[in-house]
Amino acid sequence: MNAFLQERITGMRTVQIFNAEKQEAEKFRAINREYTQANLDSILYYAVFFPVVEIISAAALGLMVWYGAKGVIGGEVTLGALIAFPIYINMLFRPIRMLADKFNTLQMGLVASERVFAVLDQTDRVENQGNVKPERFQGEVEFDHVWFAYNDEDFVLKDVSFRINPGETLAIVGSTGSGKTTIINLLNRFYDIQKGHIKIDGTDIREFDLYAMRRRVALVLQDVFLFSGTVFENITLRDSDISREQVIEAAKMIGAHEFIQKLPGGYDYKVMERGATLSMGQRQLISFIRALVFNPDILILDEATSSIDPETESVIQFAIETLIAKRTSIIIAHRLSTIRHANNILVLQKGAVLEFGSHESLLKIDDGHYKQLYEMQFLQLEEA
Ligand SMILES: Nc1ncnc2c1ncn2[C@@H]1O[C@H](COP(=O)(O)OP(=O)(O)OP(=O)(O)O)[C@@H](O)[C@H]1O
Ligand SMILES: [Mg+2]
Repeated sequence: MNAFLQERITGMRTVQIFNAEKQEAEKFRAINREYTQANLDSILYYAVFFPVVEIISAAALGLMVWYGAKGVIGGEVTLGALIAFPIYINMLFRPIRMLADKFNTLQMGLVASERVFAVLDQTDRVENQGNVKPERFQGEVEFDHVWFAYNDEDFVLKDVSFRINPGETLAIVGSTGSGKTTIINLLNRFYDIQKGHIKIDGTDIREFDLYAMRRRVALVLQDVFLFSGTVFENITLRDSDISREQVIEAAKMIGAHEFIQKLPGGYDYKVMERGATLSMGQRQLISFIRALVFNPDILILDEATSSIDPETESVIQFAIETLIAKRTSIIIAHRLSTIRHANNILVLQKGAVLEFGSHESLLKIDDGHYKQLYEMQFLQLEEA
């Protein structure tokens, strides 16, 4: 019931847009009824079990006094034994009564513990066995015959190899599901690869201390996640080493200082529920400041696919150029302006490298995939 509620509240807009309030409310009522029924059932068992034990114990005591008193009168039983007996009986029945009492609690505990153990038993996480702690990266990135599957043998990346020189920008293009996001997941070691090597500055990333490595790599995701808190806190992520001046400087460099100042409270503006009170473009800009202020050696950007107005477009374009200046960058790009400025372009198809090279060199390939993509999508835009 909690999961259902949480999902419907976060997805409230979708529910409203599709006029699904009635169905969802009905579904909730059904789940609620089921929950009530389960509760009533457990109360019923409790109500039956508990008195039954009580009655048996009371009956036992009654019988014992009845026969015991006869025995005392007849001289077969001593008075002491008659008094000791109910105490023993009580000792026997108290635990049973308690058992009935605890039965309910036990049931609830069992269900809860099942879930806790399911989480504890989760083993697929990346082991941090590396001990190389780089202060800084030069920024050379190499994928060397990388094979990777999220599940078993279902390879999402097949024999992917490429190299980025320090300070250069690589743009990754490819249709949806081709494995672009997967490549950046791997570079951050959110998953370990099955075959091949991923190297930064010539060292396999598995040899780095995970935290030291991730400190030098910044990642800006497709969908920006903002926490409830102030804009300032969302930029520094509560890293006390970052001063307000640094944040403002970075915001100015990105070109977001003005809009933040206009918010009520400026940098102390409280961001609500995942940033719902900010526009997509604004959220994107905040995530750019977040990345810039950490001054990473390697910057990874999963460009948002959503189309934005030309004005914001130019602001974001400027921000991206600021971000990638003077550092190794990987951009999953959808905009021609970003793609064309990259030193190299990697064309990915179904998890394999189809083409690799600069914008000019890729356009020279007859019937090349990139050339087709360019002619189909971008040329029209330019002419328009
Ligand atoms: N966590 C996951 N578990 C299992 N399979 C996954 C997972 N994430 C992605 N995949 C699969 O891996 C493939 C590549 O996904 P990926 O997210 O890398 O695509 P993409 O190129 O980034 O696409 P898009 O342009 O839509 O963002 C897809 O077939 C997808 O179904
Ligand atoms: Mg993606």
